[in-house]
Amino acid sequence: MPDTIRRYPDAPGVARAAADIIVADARGAIAERGVFTLALSGGSTPKTLYTTLASEHAGAVDWTRVHLFFGDERCVGPEHTDSNFRMVREAMLGVLPAAVHRIPGELGPRVAAEIYAGTLPGERPMFDVVLLGMGPDGHTASIFSGHRDQGVLVSPATAPEGFAVRDRVTLTFAALASSRRALALVTGKDKAGRLREVLGQRARGEAGTPMTLARPEGVEFLIDDAAEAPGGA
Ligand code: 6PG
Repeated sequence: MPDTIRRYPDAPGVARAAADIIVADARGAIAERGVFTLALSGGSTPKTLYTTLASEHAGAVDWTRVHLFFGDERCVGPEHTDSNFRMVREAMLGVLPAAVHRIPGELGPRVAAEIYAGTLPGERPMFDVVLLGMGPDGHTASIFSGHRDQGVLVSPATAPEGFAVRDRVTLTFAALASSRRALALVTGKDKAGRLREVLGQRARGEAGTPMTLARPEGVEFLIDDAAEAPGGA
């Protein structure tokens, strides 16, 4: 399935749309297979999505049948302000009784990657939905340009100079592709140029940034007006 792009007026609109998709998929997956597996993205963009799920959809899904995973984590403790787990916990874990598979980043990239790999679903595809963010440099999860991993599902990673936390753990391209659906939430004008480049590269099957290469089967981009590719993709 090729990429799809859906545009909303603003970031809250993107979050609401993503929440609706996730809830519908969760209800379907639970009805069909008794479980829903969701890989969460980190950073700041998805926070509104997570608070929306907790505030508007707490009763819409049997969250006890939901397993939450992380697309990546910074190698810090769960109380650290840069922890993706902490962001998710504050946004929704106090409300939604889902099972959470945390990446123990505080143990360091190699050990954390090994432990986390052992918690991934045995089923294929692993995830019903994978959430993706995109940095202005085109990274996704913690797959940065030049990342190399060989046939693993979880890998230690290093963010470039300038990132607050450089030691990371990330799902790999193979893991991100092991999904029924991938939703990329991209908002804000600082990403518009990169998004235009990525969408064009993906449409032409070209190489490019990690976001260009993620899940070649297709990604559903949910973007706001500010991130709209000026002059088309
Ligand atoms: C992380 C994320 C990362 C994020 C992008 C976008 O741990 O940083 O998983 O891939 O999605 O960097 O981040 P923002 O949403 O903060 O722009």
